[in-house]
Formats: sequence, structure tokens, C-alpha cells
Amino acid sequence: MAKIVGAITTSHVPAIGKAIANSLQQDPYWKPFFDGFKPVHAWLDRVKPDIAVVVYNDHGLNFFLDKMPTFAVGAAAEYRNADEGWGIPTVPSFKGDQKLSWHIAESLVNEEFDITTCQEMLVDHAFTLPMALLWPGVSAWPVRTVPVCINTVQFPLPSASRCYKMGEALGRAIESWDSDAKVVVIGTGGLSHQLDGERAGFINKEFDLAFMESLTTNPKWATQYSIAELVEKTGTQGVELVMWLAARATMKGAVRKVQGNYHVPISNTASGLMALEAV
Ligand code: DHB
Ligand code: FE
Repeated sequence: MAKIVGAITTSHVPAIGKAIANSLQQDPYWKPFFDGFKPVHAWLDRVKPDIAVVVYNDHGLNFFLDKMPTFAVGAAAEYRNADEGWGIPTVPSFKGDQKLSWHIAESLVNEEFDITTCQEMLVDHAFTLPMALLWPGVSAWPVRTVPVCINTVQFPLPSASRCYKMGEALGRAIESWDSDAKVVVIGTGGLSHQLDGERAGFINKEFDLAFMESLTTNPKWATQYSIAELVEKTGTQGVELVMWLAARATMKGAVRKVQGNYHVPISNTASGLMALEAV
């Protein structure tokens, strides 16, 4: 059966794309952020996953407000990136793994998660930039991918508790796939940030650090909060942290923290990074 080798959770911010395009990794503003990925690169070099299942939220590139699935799973042979209007260069396309996609889709529907399957799917900065941070400078991506989207853009949003349960079911789906593939699950979004309205620029360091700590010690901790409470505590876009919960929930056994990094600000966002290894 396929094996989940670990979960990596990270923020996604369009400005990272510009920093990569302009080689700003050593710039004082960016260095603490980019340096945080070095231990994760060493871990990926050692573990060499075959497939990345990437849990993220689309921001209007693939799904728009007129049609918004709560949960969606990519089932394409290839996923292309396209211009979202941020002025960042697009990245090479990603190979899919349709066998795993359909196994996940079937398994999630059997577990009563009525997902949308997408045989054509564009992937936005929330998918592409974490990949570019995890595998910098490659000419071809070293993993096949399966995108999994959670709606955090158009209300109503699925609760943190629901996202955690979807993550648990996603983990069971991956680990019941008849394959010897090594799978890393990536969750992208958060941590605290608010891009609009009266509280634009809102950051909550205390909550973010407690949340990061909870992922190793008490992973269901954040599921006690409603979406409204999470918006209050982390900002309107801070609710993207549900991606971290779903990714963490795919790992059912004990985990070891490979890396944790927290840096404020990257653009408007408190950026966080964690890598958790199966033990
Ligand atoms: C920013 C953060 C995001 O999560 C996003 O999707 C877009 C922009 C920001 O901080 O600028
Ligand atoms: Fe975002």
C-alpha cells in the first residue's frame, strides 16, 4: 500500500513568486523566510517522495464565485499554472497521477465526502509557490501531484472540524491505495492575515504559535473553533489554516517535527512552515 511519509504545511503569498523571480533569497527581508526551508529540503532529499497531494484553496483562477465546490479533487494528467494578475511568472506544469486521484475520489465519496472531481484544473499561487519553495530551481518537478481544494473564499466555508475529518479520510484513501508510492501531503495557507476591510494587516502571533505547537502535541486543538471564531482570531484569510489541519489529519500515527519556522511579515501574512515526519 502507498505510504504517507510526512506532511508539510506552509503559507502561500504571491510576493514569494516575485522574490524567486528576482533571486531575493539572500535579501534581508526574505532571508529568514527562505532559510526556513533548508531543513525541509534536506528531509525531502532523504525521503524522496514520489507523489505530493497538495491541499490548498484556489483564489479565483480555477473556481470563481459563481461555482464554488466546498471540496474538490484534481483528476487530470497535467495541471497548468496561469496568470492570476499578480505579475508573477508562471511555472512549468505539474504531472498528475490519475490512478491515485480516482482512488481518492472514490474513497472520499464512499466516506460521504461529496467532492467535485476536476479533469481539467488550473493551479494558482497557493499550489505553485509552495512547490517552488520545496523544490527550488528544478527544471522538471520531481513528484507527481494530486491537487485537493478546500473552499475558503466564498461563504459558507466548511468548519475546521469538517476539514480535519476530510483530512483523516484523505489519509485513509492514500494509505489504502494499492501502490508502493511514497506520498507527502502538503497543506498551504495561513497563518494569520487579513487582506481587506477594517482589520487589513491583522496578525495574531500568539494564536499562530499555539496553533503550530498544537499540530505536534494536540492536532485537533483548532477544531474547537467555528469559522467565525477563526476569522476573529486569525483574520479573514487566516482561515486558510484549515489546509494545515487537513494535511496534518492525514497522518494517523505518531509524528516527529522535522522543522518549524515562523516569520512576520511576508507581504500581509504571518508566514509559517512545518514539516512533520511519520515515525
Ligand atoms: C497574500 C496572502 C495570501 O494568502 C494570498 O492568497 C494572497 C496575498 C498577501 O499577504 O499578500
Ligand atoms: Fe491565500
